[in-house]
Amino acid sequence: MLECPILIAIDGPAGAGKSATAREVAVRLGLPYLDTGAMYRAVALLACREGLGPDLDERGRAAVVEIAAFLELSFSGDPRAQRVVVRGSDVTEALRAPEVSQMASMVSAIPEVRREMVRRQREIATRTGGVVEGRDIGTVVFPDAVLKVFLTAEPEVRARRRFEELTKRGARVRWDDVLSEQGERDRRDSTRSASPLRPAQGAVIIDSSRLSLAQVVDAVVALLSRTP
Ligand code: DC
Repeated sequence: MLECPILIAIDGPAGAGKSATAREVAVRLGLPYLDTGAMYRAVALLACREGLGPDLDERGRAAVVEIAAFLELSFSGDPRAQRVVVRGSDVTEALRAPEVSQMASMVSAIPEVRREMVRRQREIATRTGGVVEGRDIGTVVFPDAVLKVFLTAEPEVRARRRFEELTKRGARVRWDDVLSEQGERDRRDSTRSASPLRPAQGAVIIDSSRLSLAQVVDAVVALLSRTP
């Protein structure tokens, strides 16, 4: 009998702890990990490097669609220390710059970009299964995933986590800016017409505001063991 690969979808807003959770769940279960946000960020990074800004006109949008179509991206390493390689160079840290975050939010609202990324995500994960993290994994990419989790947390808690992560990396950021940029991104991600961020049908909603990472990971693994 053919074994169906296990697919776990983890969606939710920025700062809810999706990455850390998805990575740990993947390690625990020995599954591949796919960070779909990194794919949109890679398109955004290349767009920034071509001098495009977040206010995209028609030509700018066309340029971004082309960048997405020809994106040469690969992931390497295990889930906890995964590296993102674009056109042969390691861009893992560059993808986290605040201007890339803002640009990623813009490029991910372009339907043609989404179509191309979704096609690639299905190509990567359908064969092997895995823990796939993003915004539309349970709603669009893998609606039949065996487990769909919508991980969320209160806005201030999410912004604090992002602030601490950025300052730990040496970035000079202001708390007010982190909070307001997060609010902007939340609004854009959940009100865009192409695959807006929302819990998928059948998704289990987990609020991580008062949970440790280990508790969230335990909850996800326990949910999987309870799925038929
Ligand atoms: O999860 P992240 O912060 O790395 O995602 C970067 C941006 O990409 C964010 O604005 C949301 C968007 N995104 C998306 O629209 N769909 C996904 N599956 C993953 C990310």
